[in-house]
Amino acid sequence: MDGITDISKTVLPRMKWEYEKERTGYDDLISLGTADMDFRSPQPILDSISEIARNGHLGYPYIPDTFYDAIQAHLMEISSWKVDAKKCVSVNVGIYMAAWNALDVLTSPGDKIVILTPVHFCFRQIITMNGRKVIECPLQLENNEYHIDPEALRACLESGVRMLWICNPHNPVGRSWTAGELEEIADLCLKNDVLIMSDDVYCDLLFPGTGYTPIASLSKEISYRTVTLYSTSKSYNTTGLRFAYVVTENPQMFELYQDSLAKCDLNYGINIMGIAATVAAYTACGTWTEQLMSLISENHRMVSEYCAAHIPEADVVLADSTYFAWIDMRRLKLESRQLAYQLEEEEHMVVENGELFGKGGKGFIRVNLGTSPEYLRTGLKRLEHFCANHRS
Ligand SMILES: Cc1ncc(COP(=O)(O)O)c(C=O)c1O
Repeated sequence: MDGITDISKTVLPRMKWEYEKERTGYDDLISLGTADMDFRSPQPILDSISEIARNGHLGYPYIPDTFYDAIQAHLMEISSWKVDAKKCVSVNVGIYMAAWNALDVLTSPGDKIVILTPVHFCFRQIITMNGRKVIECPLQLENNEYHIDPEALRACLESGVRMLWICNPHNPVGRSWTAGELEEIADLCLKNDVLIMSDDVYCDLLFPGTGYTPIASLSKEISYRTVTLYSTSKSYNTTGLRFAYVVTENPQMFELYQDSLAKCDLNYGINIMGIAATVAAYTACGTWTEQLMSLISENHRMVSEYCAAHIPEADVVLADSTYFAWIDMRRLKLESRQLAYQLEEEEHMVVENGELFGKGGKGFIRVNLGTSPEYLRTGLKRLEHFCANHRS
C-alpha cells in the first residue's frame, strides 16, 4: 500500500496510544479502542496545512469558493447527490458540536429523539445532556448482519417523536444503509412528521464494492427535513483538527442552524486548517481512501477468519464499511463491562466495551481495525488466550 503509512510505532501525543499507555501503565499495551487510525494522513492534506504555516496567516479565515466546490464535487462523486453547497453547507468544530447545534434549534427540551442502537455512545450523551429524551430502537441482528427493524422503528416513530438520528455508515456495526433501507426509514419519518439527523462521518470508509447513499439524496422532500453531518476526521484521520461541515438544504432550517452557530460564536473564523484539509482531501488525495479500505477490509477478513478458526466465543459480525470489527462475545458469559475491563487488566489490550453503545451492545466488543495487521494479530492472540482462560 504505497499511500498508507503506518505510524503506530512513532511516539506522538495521541489519545489512542500515549494517553492509554499512561492511563494503564502498560508498556506492552495493544490499543484497539479510540476511533482514530494508526496511519499518516495523506500527503496533500499535510502539505495544505504546511502551506498555511508557510504563508504566515493564522488569523480568521475567509472560506474560499474552492471549499464549497470541493464538497459539491465530492458528494456528487461518492453518491450522485447534487447540492448547491454555497447555499446549504455550514461549518462547525466537529461532528458532535454540529449535532449539538442542530438539536438546539430543531428540537426543544423534553422532545423525544430516536437512535438506532447499538450506536456510538456520544449520541445518547448529547441528547440527554441537552435535556432531550432518548428513545432507543434496537437494530436487528440476523444471519450475523445488522438490519433496521422497520416494525420496531414504526412503533417508536408513532409515539410522538421529534427527530430520528441515524449513523450512516453505522458505528459500531459497520453497515452502510442501502437506498431501500433508507427509503423505508424516510417514509416513516414523512408519515410521522419526524425530522432526520444523519451522521455520515464514515461515508468514505466503504469496503470494496459497497455503495453509499445519503438519506437526504432520496428526494427534496426528505432533504427538507434532514441535516447531514460530515467531516474528513474519520476518513483521513484528521480528528485533531476539530472540523466538520453540515448540509441543510431546507433554507429555513439552514437559517435556524446559522442562528444557533451565532449563539456559540461559531459562525465565522472556524479552523483555518480544517478548511484547507477538506479541500485537499476531496481534490488531491486520489485513491487514498480506496487503498485504505482495501487494507481495512483485509483486516476485517483476517480478524473474522482468525476468530472462526481459533476463538469459538468470538463471532465477528459481517460488515461493509467503517474501520471496526463488532464482535459478539456473549458465549463467554462475562458482562461486557467486565469483559473490557478484564481484557485490559489481564491481556493489556484496550477495546471498546459494547455495553456503552446502548441496547443490544451487552456482551459485544468493538475492535479498531485502523492499524497494522501485525498489531491486530497480537491482539487476536491475546483475545484467544483470554477466552481460553475464561472458558466455562
Ligand atoms: C459516529 C461518530 N460520529 C462522530 C464522531 C466524532 O467525530 P469528530 O471527532 O470528528 O467530531 C465519532 C467518533 O468516534 C463517531 O463515531
